[in-house]
Order: sequence, then C-alpha cells, then structure tokens
Amino acid sequence: MDKKFFIAANWKMNASLAFIDEYFASLRSESENSNEMIICPPDIYIQSVKEKAPSFVKVGAQNISHHDSGAYTGECSGKMIGDQSAKYAIIGHSERREYHNESNDLIRLKLLKAIEHDITPILCIGESIEQRDSGQTLDVINDQIRSVLDSEILSANTNMLIAYEPIWAIGTGLTATPDMANEVHAHIHTVLSEMSSNRIPILYGGSMKSSNAKELLQMEHIHGGLIGGASLDASEFLKIYNIAEEIRNG
Ligand code: 13P
Repeated sequence: MDKKFFIAANWKMNASLAFIDEYFASLRSESENSNEMIICPPDIYIQSVKEKAPSFVKVGAQNISHHDSGAYTGECSGKMIGDQSAKYAIIGHSERREYHNESNDLIRLKLLKAIEHDITPILCIGESIEQRDSGQTLDVINDQIRSVLDSEILSANTNMLIAYEPIWAIGTGLTATPDMANEVHAHIHTVLSEMSSNRIPILYGGSMKSSNAKELLQMEHIHGGLIGGASLDASEFLKIYNIAEEIRNG
C-alpha cells in the first residue's frame, strides 16, 4: 500500500525523567521502519526525549503560543519550540479547547505561528457526543476546518497534519468504528480538496491501541494515529508503529 503512516504519541501531562529513560531503553534504533514516529511530550521534556530517543523519532510540542515573546506566563513560543528541535506541534487539541477556552480564531493564529517557525502543525478537530447524536458531526468538522484553514494557507503549506479526534472517544475506551472514522476522514478530504489540491494526511485519535489499530489504519482515508493513553506504554506504541508497517507492506 503506497501510504506513509504517521504514528504520533501525545503523552499529555505524563512522564518523568525516569519514565523517559525506561521508555527509550525499549525503543531502539532498530525499531525504525518506513513510517514516521512522532512523540509529543510535555515541553519541559522535549530536550530529554531528543537526547534519549533514537534519531528516527521526531519530537513535537503539545501546544504553541500565538505570541512571539513577552509577558505571557507559562507559554512557549514557536521559536522556543523550534530551538528544542521539535518538528511538530499539536494545535487545537480538544482538551485545550475545553480547559483553556481555545477558540477556532486563536487556533488559527497558533497554526500560523507554527508555520512561521517551520513547525509542522497537527491540527486537531472533532465533535462532541451531543453533536454526533444530533447529526451535526460533518457540519462541525466543516466549520472547524474552514475557520482555521483557507486556500492560501493550504496551497502554501504541504507540511501539515490533521487529527480527527472525536471528543467522546478520547480516553474513554470508546473508539469510532473504522467506518465511522473513515466517513469523517473522507469528508475532511472533500472539504480540503474544495480549498486546495494539496493532500494532507489525516490521523485518527481516540482510544487507538494495538488491538484496534489494524482495522482503523487499513481504512482508505486514515493515514495514522494520534495516540494518548496507549502511547505511554513503549511496547504498545511500538506495536502500533509496526502494524502500520505491516499494512504498508501489504
Ligand atoms: P487516547 O488515545 O487516550 O484516547 O487520547 C487520544 C488523544 O487525545 C490524542 O491526542
């Protein structure tokens, strides 16, 4: 299958130096395959992950400030994240939308800052259970995409990932069925193709683990995973990365 997969870990507010040592003791350079492995630790550990991880592992931040510098306590700028050699930044995660009141307007500014600093955005979108139950999923997705992205941004930037993360599937053990996820991913592709001819890989996030990764990653419009809980176990995360390779080798 000619599809490169992006297997990304979102550690959220987890890990410690001891955890990082142990994690990369079991994840070595011989683990590399033809897909992209990305790890997004808390900012404070980006450097430690860079030092301990095998060189094929790409590192990402979980957020980025829309400011360049100044009196913004607790924030990290794109320049700072880039200085740590992080290549990716998760932007607009539903936990940031909910707990930090991040709006689509703010998320757009953050995405532009990431691009300005050569950091590949992983833009997260997804519906709540109420929105799904009332049949609004595709409209919500459409709104989230169009209020953050436009044809100018898309045409100028091939380096971008989108993660479809249904909020009701995050950390709940509930997973969108492969058909449900694929339907939304196909819709995202349609919306994007109305704006630009660039093909942006779309990852699925929400209780992905080694036991359901194969059926999800096999779907036509799914190009990888953004994995929370299961990514905290190095062997589980490696299994998902290897499943992607098995699918790729067909
Ligand atoms: P879980 O894999 O724990 O459901 O988290 C998904 C997620 O939020 C990744 O960003």
